[in-house]
Amino acid sequence: MSENREQFSSRLGFILAAAGSAVGIGNLVGFPVNAAKNGGGAFLLIYAMFVIAICLPVMMAEFAMGRHTDKGPVGAFGALSNQQSGWRLAGLIGVITPFMIGVFYTVISVWILGYLYMAATGDLAYLASEAAFGEYINSPTLFLSMIGVAALIFAILKMGVQEGIEKASKILMPSLFFMLICLVIFVLTLDNAMAGIKFYIIPNFEKITASVVNGALSQAFFSLSLGMGILITYGSYLSKKTNIVSSAKMVALTDTSVAFIAGLMILPAIFSFNPDVNTSELSESSVSLIFVLLPKIFLALQASIGYFAASAVASLFFLLVFFAAITSLVSIIEVPVAYLIDEKKQSRKKALGTIGVFGGLLTVACALSFGMVAFLTEMLNYGGGTKSMFDLVYDLFYETILPLNGFFVCLFVSYRWKKHALNKELSVGNEGFEGSLMQRYVNFSLSTFIPIILLAIFLNTVATKFFAQPLF
Ligand code: TRP
Repeated sequence: MSENREQFSSRLGFILAAAGSAVGIGNLVGFPVNAAKNGGGAFLLIYAMFVIAICLPVMMAEFAMGRHTDKGPVGAFGALSNQQSGWRLAGLIGVITPFMIGVFYTVISVWILGYLYMAATGDLAYLASEAAFGEYINSPTLFLSMIGVAALIFAILKMGVQEGIEKASKILMPSLFFMLICLVIFVLTLDNAMAGIKFYIIPNFEKITASVVNGALSQAFFSLSLGMGILITYGSYLSKKTNIVSSAKMVALTDTSVAFIAGLMILPAIFSFNPDVNTSELSESSVSLIFVLLPKIFLALQASIGYFAASAVASLFFLLVFFAAITSLVSIIEVPVAYLIDEKKQSRKKALGTIGVFGGLLTVACALSFGMVAFLTEMLNYGGGTKSMFDLVYDLFYETILPLNGFFVCLFVSYRWKKHALNKELSVGNEGFEGSLMQRYVNFSLSTFIPIILLAIFLNTVATKFFAQPLF
C-alpha cells in the first residue's frame, strides 16, 4: 500500500506546497490590517509567539499523523485508534471541514478572478465605484469566472501530488513572492508610505485586550492551515527521509513572513491614499478590503502614474491574490478527494468528479446567497442577525470549528496514539529529536495547555458568534 502512495518529490516541493496552502487571501490583506489596528508591533509580537509556542507543535503532530499512517484524517484517526468510532468521527469532521471551507473559498476566488479580468481589461474605474462589488457578485458573468476557477483546480488536482500540487506550488509560490516584493517596492515610493509603515510596526500595547489576544491566536491557527485536515493529508505524501520538525518551522516561517511583508504593501497604500485615515473605520474583513477599498486606492494612483499603469498595478495585485487563493484551494479540496481515493477506493478522476458535483452545487448555492436567491440570502437567524448560506458556512467552518479540530489532534496524539509513538515518528529523518528540548516541549505542550487554550477559544467563539455572548 505505502509503496505506491504518491509522494512529494523533494523537501522543497513539500514545503512550498504546505506554505502555499497556508498563504492565502487572509495573509495578504486581512492580517496586515488587523495587526495595524490592534496594536501594530505589539500584535505582531504576540502573533509570532503564538505561531512558535502553540501552532508549531500542532503542525508537527498533524504531519506526523499523516506520514505515519500514509492516510488523510479519517484514515489516520482510524488506523491509530483501532478504528474506534469516536476518533473516526473526529477524522470525519476533519474531512467535512475542508470540504465546506473549499466551498466558500471558491466563491471568493471566483470574485478575485473576475476582478483580475476586469482590472486587466480596462474596467478599473468601474471596480472603484460604490456599486461595483454588489453588482458583480450578483451578475451572471460570475459563473464564467467560476468555470475558470473550477477548471484550473481540477487540472491541477487531476495530475496528482507530484505533477499537480507540487509542480503548481513550485511555479505559483515563487511568482507570488516576486510579485509581492515588486508591489512593496512600488508602494514604498508613494507619498506618506512611511506613515503607513510606522502605524504598522510601532507597538501600542494599550490596544492589547483579551479579545485581541484571542483574535491573534485564532488568526495564527487558521492561517497555518491547522485543523483543516490538510497537513495530515500532505503529511501522508511525505517521504520518510524528510525532517518534519525543520520542515514545519520553514512552513510557519514562510507563512508568517508573507503576512508580515504584505503589511509593508497594504499599509503604505492605505496611508498614501488617505493620510488622515481613521483606522478604526477600516474594515476587519479581507473581503471588503480587497473588493471595496483597494480598487479605490488603485484608481487614485492614476493621478500620478496614469490610468494604464494604475490598472497594471491593480492587475498585478489581483494576480498575486489569485495565486495565493489557488494554492490554498488546491490543498483544501485535496483532502476530501484523498478521502474518496483512500477510504472509498475511487480513482482520482472519479473522486474529483464526485467532489466536483457536490462541491459545485454547494458553491453555486453560496454564490447565489448574496441576493440572487432570497431563500439562500436569508437562510437563518442567529447571533443577532439574518445570515445567508455563505455566512453560515463561513461562520461555522472557518471561524468556529478549526480550534476544535486542533483540540482533537492534541488529545489524540498525546493520549490515544501516545507521546512515545509521536516522538518516534518525529524522529524519523531527524535523529537528534529524541531527548531534545524541542521533544520535551512538544510533548508537554500538546498534552497540557495547548488543548485547553484551543477548547477555550472554541467555546468563546461559539458563545460570541451564535449567541452574541462573549465569554472573555
Ligand atoms: N492563510 C489562509 C488565508 O489567509 C487561511 C487558510 C489556510 C486557508 N489554509 C487554507 C484558506 C486553506 C483556504 C484553504 O486565507
